[in-house]
Amino acid sequence: LESQAVAAFREATDNDGLEEVRIRFLGAKNGQLKSVQQQMSSVDGPDKKAAGMRLNAAKGNIQASFEQAVEQLSQRAQKSGPAPDPTLPGNPVRLGHVHPVTQTIEHLKEIMGRMGFEVVEGPEVEDPWHNFVALNIPEDHPARDPLDNFYLATAERNGSGKTYAEGDRLLRSQTSTVQIRVMENRQPPIRVISLGRVYRPDEADATHYPMFHQMEGLLIDRGVTMANLKTVLNMFATSYLGEEVKVRFRPSFFPFTEPSVEVDYWWNGSWIEFGGAGMVDPAVLTAVGYDPEEVTGFAFGLGVERLCMRRHAVTDIRDLFSGDIRFLSQF
Ligand code: PHE
Repeated sequence: LESQAVAAFREATDNDGLEEVRIRFLGAKNGQLKSVQQQMSSVDGPDKKAAGMRLNAAKGNIQASFEQAVEQLSQRAQKSGPAPDPTLPGNPVRLGHVHPVTQTIEHLKEIMGRMGFEVVEGPEVEDPWHNFVALNIPEDHPARDPLDNFYLATAERNGSGKTYAEGDRLLRSQTSTVQIRVMENRQPPIRVISLGRVYRPDEADATHYPMFHQMEGLLIDRGVTMANLKTVLNMFATSYLGEEVKVRFRPSFFPFTEPSVEVDYWWNGSWIEFGGAGMVDPAVLTAVGYDPEEVTGFAFGLGVERLCMRRHAVTDIRDLFSGDIRFLSQF
């Protein structure tokens, strides 16, 4: 009986067949093992002990071969289907990479770092003091117009008739805010750059976007002149765009620099404006507690996207922020 049962369990090929074999041999009512057990009562005398031990051994073996059969059937069910072919090419893993604007920022930091400029940061949510007042932008200046800025909160006017209040908060419209933050906390000499986002409610088109990045530079020391400014911007441009680049200053106006210039770069046959610059206005130096008779300095603010687009021949700024993997994966 034992060897019959073991063989039957081994041959069972599916769950139904296995169950049938189990009932035939191990069934609690009419199983064949049960009927052998019942015959035990007819065994007498000295043979009884040996017969009992033999029966228990057989029972254990039959039970074990049943469990083995269950195990085998479930394993076979798991690996149904053809065996895997290790020679087939795998599914490629698509790796992400650093956004082109971030790549540009890293590149600019490296170039300016070689000229001794330290990287500093400032908040994107600003107060009127840092975004305007300390930068010599008076209360009635059009740059403070609510239509030209993203104001987040406007404080109580208390019938003062004032259009703006100290409690106002806005998304910074320029990284020049960081100039003030640095000068408030440090003494000259200062040689820093700050790269980050700025926000202006512009309609998005090929060259405008309501959020973009600027690289702000600030250098304060004794005897700094316009010539130092031009040298730094020249060295920066040749490092970033190539030896053939020319720099041009056009007279301009910013409340926080005097004199002020627009910075143009000539490259690949055309002039392009990259931002503004100038000598830090004495009023700004005074606002942060410096003595304009002691120290002078220059500041500049360049558009990061413009630099990135020029270098990589991107013609529409919106492509940079579209999130389109086909565009972004080219960088
Ligand atoms: N903050 C100016 C702008 O956003 C650029 C600038 C920076 C001009 C520093 C002069 C000095 O247009």
